[in-house]
Amino acid sequence: MEVIRGVRQMQEKALTVRAAGRSIALVPTMGFLHEGHLELMRVGRRLCDVLVISIFVNPTQFGPSEDFDQYPRDEEGDLQKARDVGVDLVFIPTAREMYPEGFQSVVHVERVTQGLCGTSRPGHFDGVTTVVAKLFNIVGPDVAVFGQKDYQQLTAISRMVTDLNMPIKIVGVPTVREPDGLAMSSRNKYLDQEERASALSLKKSLDLAERMLAEGETDAGVVRQAVESLILEHPHTRIDYVTLCDPVSLEEVTRLGEETLLALAVHVGRTRLIDNRVIRKGTPGPPEGEGAS
Ligand code: PAF
Repeated sequence: MEVIRGVRQMQEKALTVRAAGRSIALVPTMGFLHEGHLELMRVGRRLCDVLVISIFVNPTQFGPSEDFDQYPRDEEGDLQKARDVGVDLVFIPTAREMYPEGFQSVVHVERVTQGLCGTSRPGHFDGVTTVVAKLFNIVGPDVAVFGQKDYQQLTAISRMVTDLNMPIKIVGVPTVREPDGLAMSSRNKYLDQEERASALSLKKSLDLAERMLAEGETDAGVVRQAVESLILEHPHTRIDYVTLCDPVSLEEVTRLGEETLLALAVHVGRTRLIDNRVIRKGTPGPPEGEGAS
């Protein structure tokens, strides 16, 4: 496994790979790798000849009062995990390398970035789509793999690739969960024991909504209220949003249709967690206390 830190070196390496007729899969990450990331890498590994990952805690997607400085980092541990999963190349640029003096360009995706996390994290998705567009230009992947846990991010990146004619296949991978259902996230590390228990309210509310739909409830307001009550029963929780929306346009709905995205962002203590599920009519809800994904 080779580690590359320079943009120029990464571009040259990628050119050599492509000139040899080999396909490239890219998994962009911000490091502190967990099983969710490793699953993205396994998918990338299966799809292409050469697997590249990037590790870059991207400053432009964090707001001024967010956790950029505290964001967990563990380069040595990450490299070991990447090696074990069969990564070929790890691109680890510095912020200076990615955003040199005079940098002033932004890739902005309009409507799908406006609601949900776009409301409470202004500028976040501009940071994401800009850095991902840069990574695509640097690595030139045939395939790029992202987690469905960041559903809005995945939607914005897919939109960008379509709108800007980027010849890259975007693959979304289902959320990987802890045995008790908590979605894996680098930020789970911030939770103390009590908060960790309350964090389960996110997954429980996805199950609740799915159950309500299975039992015939299609009023989005009723489902939202039930979900909010369930979350707030748990100590240390504060709701950022509970949104039922169209899974493609991400526009809020008043009635649950054939497919509806339930997206959640909840502060548990000082940690902001997100989770989501596309709930479908005709799908029996999971039994009480059991996960669907
Ligand atoms: O999902 C992430 O880890 C980041 O948003 C990404 C896609 C690596 C861009 O910085």
